[in-house]
Amino acid sequence: MTPLVASVFLLLFSVTEIVSAGRDAIQGNLRLPSEASRFFQKIEDDGLEGTRWAVLVAGSRGFSNYRHQADVCHAYQLLKNGGLKDENIIVFMYDDIAFHEDNPRPGTIINHPDGTDVYKGVPKDYTGENASVENFIAAILGNKNDITGGSGKVVDSDPNDRIFIFYSGHGGPGVLEMPDHSHLFANQLIEVLNKKRATRTYKSLVFYLEACESGSIFEDLLPQGLNIYATTAANPVEDSWATYCPGHSPNFPPEYHTCLGDLYSVSWMEDTEKNNPVAETLQQQYERVKTRTMNGDYKYGSHVMQYGDTDRLGMGLLSVYLGAHLANDNYTFVDRHDDDSLPPPTGVVGQRDADLVYFWDKYLKAPKGSARKLEAQQQLVEIMSHGMHIDQSVKLIGKLLFGTERGPEILVSIRPAGQPLVDDWECLKEMVGTFETHCGKLNQYGMKYMRSFANMCNAGIRTEQLAEASTLACAGIHANV
Ligand SMILES: *[C@@H]1O[C@H](CO)[C@@H](O)[C@H](O)[C@H]1NC(C)=O
Ligand SMILES: *[C@@H]1O[C@H](CO)[C@@H](O)[C@H](O)[C@H]1NC(C)=O
Repeated sequence: MTPLVASVFLLLFSVTEIVSAGRDAIQGNLRLPSEASRFFQKIEDDGLEGTRWAVLVAGSRGFSNYRHQADVCHAYQLLKNGGLKDENIIVFMYDDIAFHEDNPRPGTIINHPDGTDVYKGVPKDYTGENASVENFIAAILGNKNDITGGSGKVVDSDPNDRIFIFYSGHGGPGVLEMPDHSHLFANQLIEVLNKKRATRTYKSLVFYLEACESGSIFEDLLPQGLNIYATTAANPVEDSWATYCPGHSPNFPPEYHTCLGDLYSVSWMEDTEKNNPVAETLQQQYERVKTRTMNGDYKYGSHVMQYGDTDRLGMGLLSVYLGAHLANDNYTFVDRHDDDSLPPPTGVVGQRDADLVYFWDKYLKAPKGSARKLEAQQQLVEIMSHGMHIDQSVKLIGKLLFGTERGPEILVSIRPAGQPLVDDWECLKEMVGTFETHCGKLNQYGMKYMRSFANMCNAGIRTEQLAEASTLACAGIHANV
């Protein structure tokens, strides 16, 4: 298509838009003239009506989780390169990495063993405790009044705008973690997306999600027709994978003890940078990211999934959301079926074990007898004993509630496709709260038991029963340590 034909096509397209806007006008929304002039001005700007917005979230904190903030900073650079403006990019990150004492290159963050700094210029909209569930929800909905702290930036979008949301962090069945350790449950997120849709303040929305069991956030929950297209790093029942890890990746800079990226996240970003977002569709990217993230045979990889209005929106161009990357303008997308354009399968580490890798590598490399070695050792022991404590207490609670025979089986049972994780999300929330009161925080490792708590709800267990069992189980375990 020549540029002229493309403009004519866009113009025709816009006429349909204005006609439909006219219908809105009849219903009392008389903003047509200004909308129209805004539109024509925008065509000159970037060949697209409306504004591109992005919300980027790194869901964790701590140097062992370096990679989530690296993913998000990288995504910021990619969007910025694509022409999105800072005023339209909202960043949630704890921001404890760049100047962390363990960072061998202070003030910088990399997302690839040979990568350059991706931290420079990243807006610090919601950092530290301000990177909360409440602020994330308020930012998506454009509710400035519900924001506490931070920059106050929200997605103040119009009906023609496109929204891109990217989350990278820790999750579990039906849940995502925010850096302040609070939980965002799948039903909450779906409700927010429904609400956003009801305000008619976007044309389409793309959600890229990296977390363990991330498929469980959308599967059987995200309705069709919201003009939302989502892909997730994993299906509802598996871990997602960290990559560019110490000891696993060629050219890995040995001074880093931590994984630098996550497999799905670096896959979509490196794919975008390598190809031309003006010529590559969401569906094409999904296929390529899926191939790379399966990492050979899925043994050390995960199933990338897609949800929502996949048929309709999947045909859309990446550039509609990510912008046009000028450096790549001369390339065209070639849909190759052989894999030689993909990097070979790389060493990866399950997201839930990545913190062990960090402390282990730190321990190995610290000089014998140093304070650093001792500290790393203590942290390793702490993480492993926390994991064992959670494992044991959940197991014991299952036996107390359902009996020795059925308990273990009920805790891990997976409902058939078509049935959500839990019927009563309030119950799940209360169960988790009750457990944490008596047994301590689940943290990133313990989130994998979200399904066990959901199964308790589905089996009709009441929170008082769980409270009783938790008191017993966790008192016993503490006494034994
Ligand atoms: C939270 O936001 C407030 C208001 O912008 C700011 O003063 C404070 O420093 C922020 N806290 C963190 C931890 O960034
Ligand atoms: C793209 O092609 C144009 C015209 O041939 C050329 O001037 C420009 O330098 C090229 N851009 C890149 C990034 O290769």
